[in-house]
Order: sequence, then C-alpha cells, then structure tokens
Amino acid sequence: PDGVRELLADRIHDVADYPRPGVMFKDITPLLADAEALCVLTDVLAGIAREHGATKIVGLEARGFILGAPTAVRAGVGFVPVRKAGKLPGATLSQAYDLEYGSARIEVHAEGLTEGDRVLVVDDVLATGGTAEAAVQLLRRTGAEVVGLAVLLELGFLEGRGRVERALAGAPLDALLAV
Ligand code: PRP
Ligand code: MG
Repeated sequence: PDGVRELLADRIHDVADYPRPGVMFKDITPLLADAEALCVLTDVLAGIAREHGATKIVGLEARGFILGAPTAVRAGVGFVPVRKAGKLPGATLSQAYDLEYGSARIEVHAEGLTEGDRVLVVDDVLATGGTAEAAVQLLRRTGAEVVGLAVLLELGFLEGRGRVERALAGAPLDALLAV
C-alpha cells in the first residue's frame, strides 16, 4: 500500500556525491532508526517470506544482514549469512563476481543450507544486480531452492533486474520501492 511505501521512502535519504563524485547514495539508516518504519519493513519482508514458503532467510553482507535477521525472526525461520570472502570459519562454497573495478568474492557455509531448504534472499538495494546474481548462483550450488529475492529499494536506472531475473529462473523478485 501507498502508506507503507511513503513511510519507508521518506526515511531513505539521498546523499549526493557519496562514496564518489556523481553517485547518489541511498542512506537507509534513518529508516532503521525509526521504530515504526523498521517494524513495518520487517513485517512486509516476513510476509513475502511466508508467501513463498521460505524455510531460511539469507542476508547479503553487510546491509542485507540488518534487514534479513529480523525478517527471519518475524517469519519464524532461520538466518544464513552470505559473507564477503574470508570471514566464515567452516567449509564454504564461494562465488566470484565482477565489480566496476576488479572483482569480489562471496561465501556461504556449505552446511548452512541443504536440499529441501527454500531460501528467500534479502538485501537493501538492487543496483547493477551483480551482488544478487552472484548470491543466487552461489546459493543454488548448496542444493537449496532459491524461492525469491526481496530488496527494499531497486535502482531501476542501473538495469540490474534483467540479470537477476535470469539468475532467479522464474522465482520472484520483490522490490518494495523503486526509483
Ligand atoms: C551494496 C548494497 C547491495 C549492493 C547492490 O552493498 O548493499 O548489496 O551494493 O549493488 P549491485 O546490485 O550493483 O551489486 P556493498 O557491497 O556496497 O556494501 P555493504 O557491505 O554495505 O552492504
Ligand atoms: Mg550490500
């Protein structure tokens, strides 16, 4: 509903020229600091998790952790972190992906997810889609089923949706807000 969208959108602040000149940064910290907005956001994401029959929430380091963990609690399911390389102590699966300059690597504990798990991936922002695409590819290799990706905000002008939808192979991409 529009009231929810407005509540959330009003608390995401534009920061010009951050982290580099020419970039408009979307700062979600005012939303996180607002008890009502944080609760509403968590409830909406948990509703999506239930709709898709998710058995696990996966959050993408770092901002996806902030949204993903309360969503898991609210939906009554467990939380599994996808971390930047080198942070997980156990046996991991890892996936490389390209950045604007260079490349990055994300990892998940190999035993964190198994066949039969239905995973909803949660992140704050969908921009170029590189992070989400790599996460979906990584998670599928665990044997789990990726049942959807939910983001707070989609930056439509960066056209990340196409590549992420290809990776999702029919699973839904839910963006609560889009610019
Ligand atoms: C940001 C954002 C998304 C990603 C979106 O994460 O939180 O995860 O970029 O960009 P993309 O669609 O072009 O991949 P980032 O890795 O910058 O930092 P974080 O650790 O603060 O989440
Ligand atoms: Mg991130």
